[in-house]
Amino acid sequence: MSSYTHGHQASVLRAHSWRTAQNSCAYLLGSLKPDMKILDVGCGPGTITIDLARLVPQGHVTGTEPTAAQEPVLQQAREIAAQQGITNVTFSIGDGYALPFADNSFDVVHAHQVLQHVSEPVKMLAEMKRVVKKPGGIIAVRECDFATMTWHPPSEGQSKWHAMYQRTARANGGEPNAGRALLSWALTAGIPRECIETTIGTWCIASQADKE
Ligand SMILES: C[S@@+](CC[C@H](N)C(=O)[O-])C[C@H]1O[C@@H](n2cnc3c(N)ncnc32)[C@H](O)[C@@H]1O
Repeated sequence: MSSYTHGHQASVLRAHSWRTAQNSCAYLLGSLKPDMKILDVGCGPGTITIDLARLVPQGHVTGTEPTAAQEPVLQQAREIAAQQGITNVTFSIGDGYALPFADNSFDVVHAHQVLQHVSEPVKMLAEMKRVVKKPGGIIAVRECDFATMTWHPPSEGQSKWHAMYQRTARANGGEPNAGRALLSWALTAGIPRECIETTIGTWCIASQADKE
């Protein structure tokens, strides 16, 4: 079992809504085609999901969250999509361990900062593999690696938070240093090494707008 450490309160949703396809899954964008069918597992407030929908105008994107308890965050995502005039996106309930979709359903199965929060990331990757089209589909996952996070100026409070966050995330069943484990998890999920591409990307929070 795992429980989602951050929760979906307003401050979390505000921070996560800063995320765009460009700043959070740039590695994937060159592989997208306008008519692709994409699944975004653990979509949260859906800003990445909506961006992906914009990039596949003849396709469709489905964003999911695991249980009915997340219906409010999905409703917020639907409202943001409507405000932006994006109609090729659907937000629905779907647990990443048991996705309510047939085998071979999606051209791309994406998850951003989700596997670090679950106690069985390999099982979730195997489920993502089940619903991605074979051959040719893409499983796209990106995870942070909390231990590599750094900041300036030095701050005792920030250092205490950094240590405490990692203990808390593990106590909740997750792995905050998931980034370094992704390749190993993918191999354990049965994805052949020759099919795996690895990249690294950073978030640089330096402008006043980003800091806010
Ligand atoms: C850090 S948030 C990332 C949200 C979004 N992908 C983004 O990057 O803005 C992690 C999300 O994973 C969801 N999640 C946790 N367990 C899940 C599960 N078993 N299946 C699907 N999503 C899950 C949480 O509810 C949360 O919204």
